[in-house]
Amino acid sequence: MSTVSTLPQRKITLLTLQAKKDRGEPITMLTAYDFPTARALDRAGVDSILVGDSLGMVVLGYDTTLPVTMEDMLHHARAVSRGAQIAHLVGDMPFMSYQASVEDALLNAGRFLKDGGMNAVKLEGGREIVPAVRAIVAAGIPVVGHIGLTPQKVNQLGGFRTQGKSAAAARTLIEDAHALEEAGCHLLVLEAMPDRLAALITQRLSIPTIGIGAGPACGGQVLVTHDLLGMTDGFTPKFVKRYANLGEEMARAFGAYIDDVAAGRFPETAHSQPLDEDVFRALTREWEARIAR
Ligand code: KIV
Repeated sequence: MSTVSTLPQRKITLLTLQAKKDRGEPITMLTAYDFPTARALDRAGVDSILVGDSLGMVVLGYDTTLPVTMEDMLHHARAVSRGAQIAHLVGDMPFMSYQASVEDALLNAGRFLKDGGMNAVKLEGGREIVPAVRAIVAAGIPVVGHIGLTPQKVNQLGGFRTQGKSAAAARTLIEDAHALEEAGCHLLVLEAMPDRLAALITQRLSIPTIGIGAGPACGGQVLVTHDLLGMTDGFTPKFVKRYANLGEEMARAFGAYIDDVAAGRFPETAHSQPLDEDVFRALTREWEARIAR
């Protein structure tokens, strides 16, 4: 076996992320679903890019993440992997790609690395997914866990709601976190839970936690990029911070283009290709000769 590494020199791996957590440095993660966004995130220096199944809601226009398929995920994962060379890449396992059997889970996780160019996979759930996590990790595939608000269980949870508010619910989440760490997860996403519960879980684990709506004590933070950029309509969760208003900016640019074309202001000479004068004359002569016949 060759000992020459094929990874780019500064490629961020699970070891880099663990080292950041051990130094007390926050890990940054954002979602991407396409090549240009992945390239922009990589250039900006994000640690990890999640090809989230939020794809279904922010790109494909579904009301939930449930209809997203493995083929959808792999299509977008490949685009992201072509755009990002440095960031650690995580593919989100869609609904029913890991719930029916450990064998399904293992085969589908493998596809994210073999066909999707990802470095790790993410699964939603607590103790019930431990057998799948163990099998995936045993195959050499890093796993990111995800507890709290797990959107694939939206029907069971009765909506996209904050989790772990009662003592019993909080205890369940703490036990799930321990079980996932013990099963071999190398990161754990904590979504929509009280900040002090996320802090307790973060203190008790050795692996980094990545929060979304889980307060500042987590080992890192993740947001859905379309929320951060202001590209989503309708309800925006309280935990989202908007860093731009690209939805409005896109509408302005599209409107300006439509007005320009309608008014004959676009394209201008600067946007057109000139035709050589001799060629133009020859074509005109041929055309005049044809109508004269
Ligand atoms: O699908 C997704 O984008 C996610 C994040 C919200 C963590 O799971």
